[in-house]
Amino acid sequence: MQQLDGIVSRARAAFSAAGDAASLENAKARFLGKQGELTAQQSALKNLAPEQRKEWGAKFNAAKQQIEQALEARRAEIADAKLAARLAEEALDVTLPGRGRGRGGIHPVIRTWQRVEQIWRSIGFEVADGPEIETDWYNFTALNNPENHPARSMQDTFYVDLKDQDGLPLVLRTHTSPMQVRYARTHQPPIKAIALGRTYRVDSDATHSPMFHQVEGLWIDEHISFADLKSVYTDFLRRFFEMDDLELRFRPSFFPFTEPSAEIDMAFKGSWLEISGAGQVHPSVVRNFGLDPERYIGFAFGSGLERLTMLRYGIDDLRLFFDGDLRFLEQF
Ligand code: DAH
Repeated sequence: MQQLDGIVSRARAAFSAAGDAASLENAKARFLGKQGELTAQQSALKNLAPEQRKEWGAKFNAAKQQIEQALEARRAEIADAKLAARLAEEALDVTLPGRGRGRGGIHPVIRTWQRVEQIWRSIGFEVADGPEIETDWYNFTALNNPENHPARSMQDTFYVDLKDQDGLPLVLRTHTSPMQVRYARTHQPPIKAIALGRTYRVDSDATHSPMFHQVEGLWIDEHISFADLKSVYTDFLRRFFEMDDLELRFRPSFFPFTEPSAEIDMAFKGSWLEISGAGQVHPSVVRNFGLDPERYIGFAFGSGLERLTMLRYGIDDLRLFFDGDLRFLEQF
């Protein structure tokens, strides 16, 4: 029995002497482990007469409980001390003035934004701006997007918990194309405008992010043809990349809001890279502009600003734009 008391006090002393969690766990093993001092006492039980066993068992349990309590208490002390030390070490005086003034910079995508704006302005395009939270009509219906088009699905699109006048949920615009309709409905031809801004889709990997940027272009008048699109878009890209011999390819494609439609590819390091969707604005969309498609005709295009930025600077992972890592951002 006295042995038990001795074990308890030795355990207490060992626990207090342990200065960190690892040595405390070692000390625990010395007393409570399989080969521990207390555990070894358990075997004494079977040598006792049955009437002594009960009393001894109670003592044993009490000793075990005391050791466990001492262990818990010391664990808490060590954890508290560790936290206190860490808080002291990381203490931050938020009232101190900052050290030096870091110079901010313009984000690479915004650099592209500004550059794109400046080039299109210089060839007579107005710059328009509009809402990122759109109605179903502007984002889809007015652009001839059929009711059951996959782009409308909940999986591809972020809906907002608010309804528009038609009782349809508002949507984070999936492209800048609704700006064609907004702009055309409030301006008279000739219409020559671009709209840049944030767009949203349920997409996330090295080349897609849930929020990204597009530039939309629209030129509507009485005689605007595909040839005009080809010439101004080529001119734009050559100036953007500062390459007079940049090669472009117009590849037949499909968009509900243009007919014919094309995908514009640019030659890049021996292959063709898609840079834009484009086409002659569909007569139904011209009608939704509030214009007579027998009289007015023109083209539209939509390009991704991240894609333009990645190609211009040779960046291969789009996520870098949004991580906020200064080592990356400081290079611009
Ligand atoms: N809105 C299309 C998209 O996000 C891109 C696009 C294609 C825009 C053709 C246009 C166009 O204006 O004519 O994928």
